[in-house]
Amino acid sequence: MQGNQCCCHEQLMMIRQRLIYIYFAGTGLALFWIFVNFGTWCEDNSDYLELEKKKVQLLQQKTDTQRLEIDVLKRLNDDTKLDLTRAEKKLNSLVINNNKDIPVIYLITPTHGRLEQKADLTRLSYTLRLVPNIHWIIVEDLSRKSDLVTNFLANCKLPYTHLFVATPDNYKLKEKDPNWLKPRGVLQRNKGLQWLRNQTGVTGVVYFADDDNTYDLRIFEEMRYTQRVSVWPVGLVGDLKYESPKLRNKKVVGWHTYWKPERKFAMDMAGFAINARLLLEHPRAEFRMTAGRGNLESDLLTQLGVEWSDLEPRAEDCTKVLVWHTRTEKSSLKNEGKMKTYYNTSSDINIEV
Ligand SMILES: *[C@@H]1O[C@H](CO)[C@@H](O)[C@H](O)[C@H]1NC(C)=O
Ligand SMILES: *[C@@H]1O[C@H](CO)[C@@H](O)[C@H](O)[C@H]1NC(C)=O
Repeated sequence: MQGNQCCCHEQLMMIRQRLIYIYFAGTGLALFWIFVNFGTWCEDNSDYLELEKKKVQLLQQKTDTQRLEIDVLKRLNDDTKLDLTRAEKKLNSLVINNNKDIPVIYLITPTHGRLEQKADLTRLSYTLRLVPNIHWIIVEDLSRKSDLVTNFLANCKLPYTHLFVATPDNYKLKEKDPNWLKPRGVLQRNKGLQWLRNQTGVTGVVYFADDDNTYDLRIFEEMRYTQRVSVWPVGLVGDLKYESPKLRNKKVVGWHTYWKPERKFAMDMAGFAINARLLLEHPRAEFRMTAGRGNLESDLLTQLGVEWSDLEPRAEDCTKVLVWHTRTEKSSLKNEGKMKTYYNTSSDINIEV
């Protein structure tokens, strides 16, 4: 039993010792392995951290760039807004303060609804902003005031009167009619004259200013001190480079015109202005549909009892063209239909043109 015990004891001790060896060897190996790999881990980790840092830096840079871009855009936007405000202010400063010491010019402008109406009126209004002491009488060829013209006038920053009268259908031009066939703007100009005569104490000058003509600002100063009727050349009219009164010794002795030079006053509407007094002295004088082709102007001046000797030549003795009988080309809308056909879309009817 003793021997056995002793034997068992020794065996157990040996096993324990071996286990201890194995334990130390294992631990040593493990430590060694850790020691060997430690550097690699550290290296890997630092690389990773480096990459992460770089990524953060790049992101930061990107954010900074974007922020810079946003700043620039904001500033541009502010500048644009500022520019627009400045432009608007400048534009408004162009509305010349009315000087009550100079005669008023009453401009009678007949206008009819068409695609180009707002464009033409806009251009004319911007010219008129540069003319002191005017009163703009706009007369629509319509049985009521249109929204377009009403809104336009409300923002035009000019002294104005808005009237309307519709031309009866039997007087109106058809699409294909040449525009000399029937007199245009007759009732509208007469409406303007009627309004003038209705006002009390009207003094000044009356000029019939079509909405598609082109005006040199100097023409308004040429006409401002008209005693009875002032006259001057008109460019691009009557299929000529210009039409003009013919002068001898600074007096009108005839007309440079191809068409019916025998008319007493062979002038375009844009070629003369009348002192308002003359219109008040002849309260019944007006444009007449019956005047005949191209004879509206001559017929009116005849009714006003004007003679050639009354005419006051202006524009450097009728040697300068300061007004042009320009005409706005009719705009085509032929692609509006095609938009529908090919793209199933069309222009927004809520956008005013
Ligand atoms: C001018 O006065 C008459 C009479 O009061 C009036 O019937 C007419 O509508 C007025 N016309 C204009 C354009 O003001
Ligand atoms: C055309 O457009 C209208 C309105 O956008 C839509 O209701 C309709 O389905 C379209 N037709 C075709 C053929 O795409």
